[in-house]
Amino acid sequence: MTGINIENVRKDFPILSKQVNGNNLIYFDNAATSQKPSAVIEGLKYFYENINANPIRSIHSLAEESTKVYNDARKKVADFINAEPEEIVFVRNATEAINLVSFSFPFKKEDRISSTYMEHHSNLLPWLRLKERGIGVDIAQVSEDYELDINYYRRLPKNTRLVALTHASNVTGTINDVKEIARLSHEQGALVLVDAAQSIPHMPFDVKDIDADFVAFSGHKMLAPFGIGVLYIKKDTSKNMQPFLTGGEMIKDVSLSRIIYENVPNLFEAGTQNVEGAYGLGLAVEYLNNLGMENVEKYEAELTNYLYERAKELKNVEIYSGKSKRFNSIFSFNVTGLHSHDTAYLLDKKGIAVRSGFHCAQPLIEDRLKLDGAARASLYFYNTKEEINTFIDELNKIAAKYGRQ
Ligand SMILES: Cc1ncc(COP(=O)(O)O)c(C=O)c1O
Repeated sequence: MTGINIENVRKDFPILSKQVNGNNLIYFDNAATSQKPSAVIEGLKYFYENINANPIRSIHSLAEESTKVYNDARKKVADFINAEPEEIVFVRNATEAINLVSFSFPFKKEDRISSTYMEHHSNLLPWLRLKERGIGVDIAQVSEDYELDINYYRRLPKNTRLVALTHASNVTGTINDVKEIARLSHEQGALVLVDAAQSIPHMPFDVKDIDADFVAFSGHKMLAPFGIGVLYIKKDTSKNMQPFLTGGEMIKDVSLSRIIYENVPNLFEAGTQNVEGAYGLGLAVEYLNNLGMENVEKYEAELTNYLYERAKELKNVEIYSGKSKRFNSIFSFNVTGLHSHDTAYLLDKKGIAVRSGFHCAQPLIEDRLKLDGAARASLYFYNTKEEINTFIDELNKIAAKYGRQ
């Protein structure tokens, strides 16, 4: 394997040497949240011991330092995805980012929004809720190979104002061709929102190249603390958007009869912000930059290939991911006849953390895949082939004991 020095990398993550139920932890729940390196953990301590103050408002030295690290973090995140700092709005997570667009964008009654069957609830429910305002919502189908039909995007339903889709599915692992879909959607006058919660942590991402109008992602899935996320809004797209929340530090001038709002991004950052989280996200981005996102992508691809290769040995196990042309480091499965929660419970007894249930993608899992849940192993760059070996061996034992032939 090239590019990633796995022994050194693992030393950066204190939790990876933890024992769980008497076994070495094998953390395969990275699509839910990532673990954090010491650089981030210690950075947060440093922040509270040296910087802590409310940013933007006051002019004393600590407040200026706090404002500086907040702005620096915005610049680091912008550079990470090839955006401009003014295009980066700090929010709590991808969910809040997408909700912000659904509330703040001036959709009209005749507008339609196009989502897909493979979305996480956070890129589905905000749009379904707009039906209450008479706005139409169309759902693009998912094929047997877990692909979207590109032809759908060549002939979008009339009046489609926004195409919202995930870059990478958190269940099937499908990586969608968002660049081509953005191009086709723009040709028909629709804007494009990319849910990049499962892609930005794992691969190089260039927002100018993809040409998305909105991009949503969460810090906690890419080494940063909980409670910090990002909404990218392409510069001109934000022109007619209304504030999502109102309050402190999002106005230029206010009297009881007149409000002059701040420009984006401040317009969408009302109230005291999560400076600690933004600082931590900046450190996480630095860590990822030091590794190199090309190296992260390459290493994870090798791990993923190895996992799917070894999975061929599994008996009494159904697999629901990895069929599309491009897919990420997600492996969704069930031991036949065993509920996914039971599988996850049995793996946990061996120290192996996997997710189970609907994965906040109930329409995909229940309606489309006809399942009552699935187990999911999801990898990150600090996982190893040895961990995959243990996982496959333990899963094989569970499937041999409890699985239906
Ligand atoms: C594809 C996708 N989109 C959005 C989200 C929502 O992320 P958050 O809960 O951090 O808002 C997730 C979380 O798992 C996800 O997998």
